[in-house]
Formats: sequence, C-alpha cells, structure tokens
Amino acid sequence: MRGWTYLLVIPVVAVLGTASGQQAFLQHAASGLKPAQRASDKANSTGNLIFWSVSSLLQHWPNTRYINGHTITAATVPPGTILYHGRSNNDRPMTLDWLATDPEHSFVFCWGKCYLYTYVTTRPLRLAYFDGSSASKVMSSGVMDTQDIVIWGKVRSDMARNERVRIQELCKWGEQYKLDGFVRMEMDFEIMICDFDAGMKLISESKVIPHITTEGRFYSDFINLSHRALLPRPPPHRPAPELPPGWRGSARSEMSTAFEVLNAGMWHNRPPGETRIKIDYSRILSFFDPALSSLVRARAGKSKEEFRLDEISEADSKYTRDKLDDIFTRDGQGSGIDWGSITQVVVDRYGKRLELLQHILQNPESNRNVTEQVAEARSQVLIMLTPYMLVSAIPPNLTGPVNRSWIDPVVKHCASTHIAWTPETLLTPQEKSIKAAVEEVLSQICGVLGDIWVDAFDSENSNVKELERFLTKWQLDITQLMDWLDWSVWLKCKPACGPEEICYIPTWPWGYRFGRNEVGKVDMTPRCVEAVVPYSFLQPSRPGPHSS
Ligand SMILES: *[C@@H]1O[C@H](CO)[C@@H](O)[C@H](O)[C@H]1NC(C)=O
Ligand SMILES: *[C@@H]1O[C@H](CO)[C@@H](O)[C@H](O)[C@H]1NC(C)=O
Ligand SMILES: *[C@@H]1O[C@H](CO)[C@@H](O)[C@H](O)[C@H]1NC(C)=O
Ligand SMILES: *[C@@H]1O[C@H](CO)[C@@H](O)[C@H](O)[C@H]1NC(C)=O
Ligand SMILES: *[C@@H]1O[C@H](CO)[C@@H](O)[C@H](O)[C@H]1NC(C)=O
Repeated sequence: MRGWTYLLVIPVVAVLGTASGQQAFLQHAASGLKPAQRASDKANSTGNLIFWSVSSLLQHWPNTRYINGHTITAATVPPGTILYHGRSNNDRPMTLDWLATDPEHSFVFCWGKCYLYTYVTTRPLRLAYFDGSSASKVMSSGVMDTQDIVIWGKVRSDMARNERVRIQELCKWGEQYKLDGFVRMEMDFEIMICDFDAGMKLISESKVIPHITTEGRFYSDFINLSHRALLPRPPPHRPAPELPPGWRGSARSEMSTAFEVLNAGMWHNRPPGETRIKIDYSRILSFFDPALSSLVRARAGKSKEEFRLDEISEADSKYTRDKLDDIFTRDGQGSGIDWGSITQVVVDRYGKRLELLQHILQNPESNRNVTEQVAEARSQVLIMLTPYMLVSAIPPNLTGPVNRSWIDPVVKHCASTHIAWTPETLLTPQEKSIKAAVEEVLSQICGVLGDIWVDAFDSENSNVKELERFLTKWQLDITQLMDWLDWSVWLKCKPACGPEEICYIPTWPWGYRFGRNEVGKVDMTPRCVEAVVPYSFLQPSRPGPHSS
C-alpha cells in the first residue's frame, strides 16, 4: 500500500517541481472554481444551531453560556435514581414541587432549619426536558419561552416569576401524555414533579445541620469577577441557625452553600452531562427548525445569546405544539441511533484539532516563520483528512485549466461518513432534522479542510508571498468556521485554572442583576475564580452573638 501511494505521488511532485507547473497550480488554487460554501454566507442555515443544541443537551456549561433554550425533548429518569428535596420545614411535598439531582442544590432552599428528603424512583419517570437555563426564574430574557409556548402558545413575560402557576399549568398539559414531570436547569438540574406518589418512594427524611443565612443576601453576587475572588459578605443576622446543643465551631456559611451548588452544577458541565436523565433522541423538538419561518426572521441580525421565541407566529406556535403532540404520543423508538454520541464523535474528532490548527495559523508566540507555519498547518489538515485521503485524489493536470474538482471525492467521503448509512425510513422527523444538521456541519468542516488542502497540497514549493497569502486565507476560513460552529469545547479558561480555582462564567442568579434582562450585556469570558471560601470568610459563620 505504501509503495503504491509513493508511486502515485512521485510523478506529481516531479510535475510541480517545474516553475511553470508551480505557477499554474498556484493560480488554480487561488481562483478556486468551486470552494465550499462559506459558513458566513449561510445566514439562515440552522444546522450549526441544531447540532450545537443536540450536542449540548443536559450539559451545564453550554446551557449557562446561552441561557435561552430552544429545545424540548422527551426524557426519562431510570428506576433506582436518588433525588432530593430540601426545605426549612417538615411539610413533606406531595404534589407540584421540585426535586434536585444533587443534594447541594436542595440545601440552597434551607434557611434556619434544614429538612432533607431523599426519594428513589421505582419506575422510569416520563419527563419533558427544556434546555437552556430554563429554571432561571426572574429573567424575562427568554429562558422560559419554550415553557410558555407549551403552556400558553405564546411568550408570557408577565408570568416569568410565577412558578406556582407554571408548574400547575405544565402538569396539567403533561397529564394527557402521562408525564411525571419536567426537567429544567439553573445553577444545577432540577425536576418539577407533578405527583410524589407516582413512580417514587420516600427513603429518608432527615433534619440536617443548616447553613448560616444572611437574610436577603443569598442571591446577591458572591464572586468579584474583576478580581477573580469571592466577595466579602456582611455578618449574618437572622434567622439564627438552629444548631443542636453540643455543636461546636463553624457551620456551613451561606457563601459556601452558594458555592457548592455552583460546583455541583459544574460536575455536569461537559459530556456526558447530567447522566441521571436520559434523552430520547428520536423525540427532540428544536425551535431552530428552519420550517419555523417567523423565528428565522426574528433571529436576523441578532447574536446567538439574544435568540428567543417571543416573535413566534401563531402558525409556527401551533406547528410546534402539534409536533409535541406527535412526540409524546407516537409509538415506537425511532431508529435507535445514538445521536448524542454521533455529535460527540464529531466534536471529539475536530474540536481540539481545529483549535490547534487555528493556534498554528495565528502563531501568537511568533515562534514559527511562514514556511514552518504553512508546513505545520498542512500537516494538521492532512491528519484530519487522513481517513478520506484517497490515493486517486491528486490534481490530474496542473498545466490545464483551473479545476478543483479532484478534491471533491475526499470532501464527500469526509462529510458523509457518519450519516450516509442511516436508515432513512426508520428515522423520525426529528431524527431527520438532526441528521441534516450533522450533514451540514460535516460538509462545512470537510469543505473548508478540502479547500485548504487544495492550497496546501504543493505549498512546500511555494514562495514566501504565496505562503503569506495562504496563511491569511486559511486563518479567515478556520476562524469563520469555528465562529459558525461555536462549540462549547472551545469556551474555557486560558490559561487553565490552578488547583484551588474553578473556571467560571456568570451563572444565574449570580453575575446578573436580579429581575433585569441582561442577556448580551453580561461578560461571558470564562475566568478562574477561587474555589475555596477564604479562612477569613469562615469566621462570621460562627453561631452566637448575631441572632436577633
Ligand atoms: C473587586 O476587587 C477589586 C480589586 O480588589 C476592587 O477594586 C473592587 O472594588 C471589587 N469589587 C467589588 C464589587 O467588591
Ligand atoms: C433569510 O431569511 C429571511 C427571512 O425569511 C429572508 O428575507 C432572507 O432572504 C434569507 N436570507 C438568505 C441568505 O437566505
Ligand atoms: C524558516 O525557518 C527554517 C528553519 O526552521 C528555514 O529553513 C527557512 O529558510 C525559514 N524560512 C523563512 C522564510 O525564513
Ligand atoms: C493538460 O492540459 C493542457 C492544457 O489544456 C493540455 O494541453 C494537456 O493535453 C493536458 N494533459 C493531460 C494529461 O490531460
Ligand atoms: C473538472 O474536472 C472534472 C473531472 O476531471 C470534470 O468532470 C469537469 O467537467 C471539470 N470541470 C471543468 C469546469 O472543467
């Protein structure tokens, strides 16, 4: 095999070695009859957005970065899953109440006293999941839009804070589909439960040591973003924590409680995300569906974080509700294809590599000259295209007219690998839309890589001026591609954080001013902040003199 490849390559190199051959080839690469369609030209395409949401489901980080959800899915929680409820009194919840997947989240809802209820699921719970930061209660920014469409058929900003009515209405809607509840996300994941006797058993009811509360302060920010440090808190005054006789030393401070729910949410930042909830990928409704033309119009000229559903037309709202009806009543399991895994494979294969290629092209440390930069970039492109680099994909005639079509089989092979064999007849309409999104994303990635390869193929014989031109062009291509994809694997602290720090982006309720729509105004640059409450802040939490 190696010998064969070698034989094919040698004559081409020989042709390229001549001055006229090289010049013709460069012209050929430069004018480009058939470059991949540029991502930036595809103003209304939504493959990138659907791909992004499918690959981000149940992950805390991307849904904190873009808080307005655009996806509703069917989901289940398997039997044997432990769920929590915390409160300051012992009125055990029976209906229409909230459970957390992590006790760190339940503990937030304890003031003064803390009763922690632990439940186990006894059968799979049937749920609907709203992506985004869909439990960020007081922002009328769009976080509740998908829920509003389900309940009222339109966005109701007057209902943004009305959680009681919301859970009643959601459960009422879900009754026809035998839904047990609804999954949402804020600092961590939660489940709104319609009936605590259905599919669940109480396994413990514990009165636990509470944290020290500082009235009215919990929701104020506790991270000084400009300083990467925690903000000092005023000493607690009321209510006095109910610590048992014989307790000694500091109890949990409110700041530590706030910090730990953030931490717990962050356990689910990256794939596989919140694993106790299972998505049914054959039942995913995306509001990025290009058929929803009123939303295509509404998104025009807006940034991704501002996308929302308040301008949905009546017809499109009805269309989505009909789709939901189908999603929650349809029999059968779809194709069984694990779309979450397919999107993950694509992100795994290209995420770090595109980032590395971009770094080589930008050369921020200025440690390579153009010859080296182009050679390194070429080698990265070759690495990415290796499984598709057919021995027949060689420019056939470099002296002839400009024609880039020799790269087409490589691009086609690269773009179709993951989806060409999906059994079309078994796919649900929602799976077809995910398949189309994967197809679009792959054809963009492979198209851009193919384009670069046409330039790069003989770049080792190019002069410095040509190399500089290549670098400028490739940089733009890769940057546009990465901007269009906007994968959250690229959203991280640079450089990485130290052992006593976490990488943080504003997470409601912190980092936002309460009750205001600040979407698009909050600085979402990831930054490292202290992960340990400083010793000096532990002191005020000592029980005693401050109680009223
Ligand atoms: C954050 O820290 C900086 C630097 O110490 C300080 O100037 C600023 O006032 C702090 N911000 C708040 C809100 O405390
Ligand atoms: C995008 O959609 C809008 C609204 O439907 C339409 O006016 C515009 O021509 C479309 N643009 C492209 C590039 O397709
Ligand atoms: C770049 O550096 C290499 C050595 O690493 C050298 O051979 C080459 O001539 C340099 N190219 C330019 C354009 O300076
Ligand atoms: C390559 O193209 C040139 C110019 O069109 C033509 O004269 C030549 O015959 C072609 N060679 C091959 C092998 O097709
Ligand atoms: C380019 O080459 C392909 C395959 O050799 C050929 O089918 C196609 O007609 C050519 N296109 C142009 C514009 O010459």
